[in-house]
Amino acid sequence: MILTIASLKGGVGKTTLTAYLAQALREKGKRVLVIDADHNGSLTFFYLPTASEGDLEAANVKHALLRKRAFAPVDQGGCIWPTEKGDFVPATISLASVGLEIFQAADHGAVLGFRQALRRLDYDAILLDVHNALVYEMTASLYAADLVLVPVTAMPWTVRGYLDIEREVQKVHDSIGVGPRILAVPSMVSDIEAGALRELDIWQSTKAAIRRDKAIRDAASAGRALREDTIAARAFAELAGEVVG
Ligand SMILES: Nc1ncnc2c1ncn2[C@@H]1O[C@H](COP(=O)(O)OP(=O)(O)OP(=O)(O)O)[C@@H](O)[C@H]1O
Ligand SMILES: [Mg+2]
Repeated sequence: MILTIASLKGGVGKTTLTAYLAQALREKGKRVLVIDADHNGSLTFFYLPTASEGDLEAANVKHALLRKRAFAPVDQGGCIWPTEKGDFVPATISLASVGLEIFQAADHGAVLGFRQALRRLDYDAILLDVHNALVYEMTASLYAADLVLVPVTAMPWTVRGYLDIEREVQKVHDSIGVGPRILAVPSMVSDIEAGALRELDIWQSTKAAIRRDKAIRDAASAGRALREDTIAARAFAELAGEVVG
């Protein structure tokens, strides 16, 4: 199953959700691949804080989009790093130019090529964390997905971030006849806010919600896994069960 975690709003918890949903899935015994598809590289810092720029550049997901490197282990010349936290594909700032490079190469099949390359992989779940703007790699990640998770907060502007993604998902359905489901995930909320967000008829929301929780922020900024048996870890485990089963 391929999951893209997306919103056209920044700072809604996409990267954090990707990191800890992946952890929860791995703790359930799932084989998981996480892909950083955001040129800001926040998730790359979380997974590979000490890797050199040169090594990261060589395994950049950009090369998979450009069809110059396969989704194979780095020691076989591919993009997948076996990290302490699990299999991971990094991004660097140079990913920001991938749309232009694909345009210049007139590679009109790159989006579908990326989709097919991911679908050939043998993982239970592949998670993509994307940038908060409608860039080429966002489109490619929506085309590849079975399910798009959109973190939504209690701020009114996150509704826009959701609706913009929903419109892009509809375009995928319109152009290739299939496409991902889309679910809102209440993120950085209180229990009351989560209840209110679930009730809105703008979206279909997950039952699981991720609370605003200092333990999550502290673990994310320290690049640590969440401690098992905490409220936060249980919420991600519930979400993992709900979306991947
Ligand atoms: N559930 C949470 N509780 C408390 N803090 C959180 C939670 N989720 C995320 N944060 C914090 O909020 C900030 C933004 O989170 P994150 O980087 O995951 O958002 P993002 O949507 O990926 O942002 P961007 O659009 O910049 O990529 C970070 O400092 C993170 O640690
Ligand atoms: Mg992010």
